[in-house]
Amino acid sequence: LSTTDVDLAAIQPGQAVTVVWQGKPVFVRYRTEAEIAQAAQDDSAHLRDPQKDADRVTKPEWLVVIGVCTHLGCVPLGQKPADPKGEFNGWFCPCHGSHYDTSGRIRKGPAPLNLPVPKYAFTTDTTIRIG
Ligand code: FES
Repeated sequence: LSTTDVDLAAIQPGQAVTVVWQGKPVFVRYRTEAEIAQAAQDDSAHLRDPQKDADRVTKPEWLVVIGVCTHLGCVPLGQKPADPKGEFNGWFCPCHGSHYDTSGRIRKGPAPLNLPVPKYAFTTDTTIRIG
């Protein structure tokens, strides 16, 4: 399928789901107020791949990123409640130790780029279509 629909209604704040789009994992995280605030605050941090959080989201509470580490392609941890989320409370790639923040931006470790944001749109208030 060239598109993937995701029902957001069952996801609670602070929770995340992994869906598959074009054979790749896509992380959909319902960010808490604290995570949104941290992402905005980190706009002014020293970023390896500078991007504003607001340019990476359609609605601040929903972060949608391709779940493939930009170093050598492992799937970062941070989706399950018990997963390590790394030093910046986003995702941690265990293969060689890359840390991503609450906007999916690379902050530490060998990965060169942020987790990419796929093309997606809200088709209803609680549904997105990726692709
Ligand atoms: Fe993620 Fe190397 S593949 S740090």
